[in-house]
Amino acid sequence: MSEATKIAKKIDGKAFAEGLRQRVALKVTKLKGQHDITPGLAVVLVGEDPASQVYVRNKGKQTVEAGMNSFEFRMDEDATQSDLVEMVEELNADPNVHGILVQLPLPRHIDEAEIINAIDPNKDVDGFHVINSGRLMTGQDAMVPCTPAGCMMLIKDTLGNDLSGKRAIVVGRSNIVGKPMAQLLLDANCTVTIAHSRTQDLPGECQRADIVVAAVGRAEMVKGDWIKPGACVIDVGINRVPAPEKGEGKTRLVGDVDYAGAAQVAGSITPVPGGVGPMTIAVLLDNTVTACCRINGVDVPKA
Ligand code: GUN
Repeated sequence: MSEATKIAKKIDGKAFAEGLRQRVALKVTKLKGQHDITPGLAVVLVGEDPASQVYVRNKGKQTVEAGMNSFEFRMDEDATQSDLVEMVEELNADPNVHGILVQLPLPRHIDEAEIINAIDPNKDVDGFHVINSGRLMTGQDAMVPCTPAGCMMLIKDTLGNDLSGKRAIVVGRSNIVGKPMAQLLLDANCTVTIAHSRTQDLPGECQRADIVVAAVGRAEMVKGDWIKPGACVIDVGINRVPAPEKGEGKTRLVGDVDYAGAAQVAGSITPVPGGVGPMTIAVLLDNTVTACCRINGVDVPKA
C-alpha cells in the first residue's frame, strides 16, 4: 500500500471494554468465592433528563451483568440540596454500597461540588471528590475518573506501556476529563500540554504531539492536518449533529476530531461511537470492585 492511502489503525474501544467487563466479572466471582463479598454500586438520578436516563439504565444493566449489586435511586427534579445530601449520607453509611455515583448534570438549583464532596471519598467511584483529585495530583492511591482512566488503557494497549518522553496534548481542561487525563499522561512520563479555548496556534500545538486527546465537546474541531503523521488520536467527544443525508430531521454522532481527515494521517485513532464511550462504564465497574476491596481490606483479585 502506498503512503498516500495509508489509514490509521482503528482503536476498538467497544471490544476492549467488553474484555475489561469480563475481567471485572471474574474478580467479582473470586471476591464472592474467597470472601463472601458482593460489590454494590448505587446510582442516583435527579430529574428526567433523557440522556441521563439512558446512561443510568446502561450502568444498572452492566453492573448486574458483572455479578454486582445495583441500587438505583430516582429523585424529583425539584429535590432540594439537603434531600440529596441526606441521600448521599445514607449511602455512605450503607455497608452493601461500595460505590456511589450521582449522575451529572444536576438541576441548576443544586450545588454540584457540595454534593460530590458529600460522597465518602472511598466510595467515590467517579473520582470527582476533591480528596481523590488531590490524591491523583500527588501520586497517592486515588479513585481515578473513569473516562481518562479508560483513555489511558486504550493508549497503553495501542502504544505499549512505556510512554516515556512522548509528547501528549490534551485539548480541553475540564475537571472530569481534561485535567485528570493530563495528570495520568504526566504520571506516565509524557511531556504534556493542556490546550483550551485561549490557546494560541492550536493546530501547531497539536502537530507536535505523539498523543492527542480531544475532550472539548465541539464537533469535529480537530482537523486532519493538525495531526502529526503516526500519532495516536483519542477522541472523547460525543456530539450529535444534523445528518440530512440520512433523511429529514435525522442526526448522527461525531467526535471532537474530524475522523475521516485524521485517519489519513494518524497511526491510530478511536472512532465515535465505539471508541472511548464504551470504556467509561467498564472502568466504573472496575473502580467499584477496587473500592469494595479497599473498604473490606482485601486485595483486589487477579483477573
Ligand atoms: N454524566 C455523564 N457522564 C457521567 C459520569 O461519568 N459520571 C457522572 N456522575 N455523571 C455523568
